[in-house]
Amino acid sequence: MPALQTDCDGFRLLPGYLKRDQQNALVKTVLGALEAAPLFTPAMPRSGKPLSVQMSNFGPLGWIADRTGYRYQPHHPETGTPWPAMPQQLLDLWTAVSGWPEPPQACLINIYGPASRLGVHVDADEDARDAPVVSVSLGDRARFRLGGPLRNSPTHSFILSSGDVVVLGGASRRFFHGIDRIYPGTSTLLPGHFSPGRINLTMRRVN
Ligand code: SIN
Ligand code: FE2
Repeated sequence: MPALQTDCDGFRLLPGYLKRDQQNALVKTVLGALEAAPLFTPAMPRSGKPLSVQMSNFGPLGWIADRTGYRYQPHHPETGTPWPAMPQQLLDLWTAVSGWPEPPQACLINIYGPASRLGVHVDADEDARDAPVVSVSLGDRARFRLGGPLRNSPTHSFILSSGDVVVLGGASRRFFHGIDRIYPGTSTLLPGHFSPGRINLTMRRVN
């Protein structure tokens, strides 16, 4: 497999960007948020088929998926309450790596179990198409697949480890990508019922 360029088409992988204590702090913040905004299981539009990843959100807007489609909304689909505020640690990370002057409006919390995967897709539900996507990996390693602008563009796969930060900027903002698989038991970060497993936090501008 060819080595992945770490700054190619605006795509950046920052390995080990978050140190262990920063990862721990972030996990604690996520667990707190999930008490207020419990995980929900998104469903594929039309078919209603559940995704294997569970979700919640931070920030003024949250991404959801159900039978009627994909969208952003200011409240939790089950409790109806606003999403927990964007944590300062994530705002600081965004400022440090995004190069974008405005703060993120949404942070999707993806929770992967040992058998979860995320099919190849483009992040396309945002009107803000130039702002980068910044994402953080916590917990077990995962195999990330990055393609190009077309569904049949050639792809590369590489491993994301706990503390890694990915920036999809420039052209790569609209590239196909997904998570092929999780490698259970490759991290000791996550507590009890999230282990084996992985948390991914994905910040975006929406409009
Ligand atoms: C996503 O593409 O929404 C998540 C990617 C990841 O889990 O690293
Ligand atoms: Fe994505």
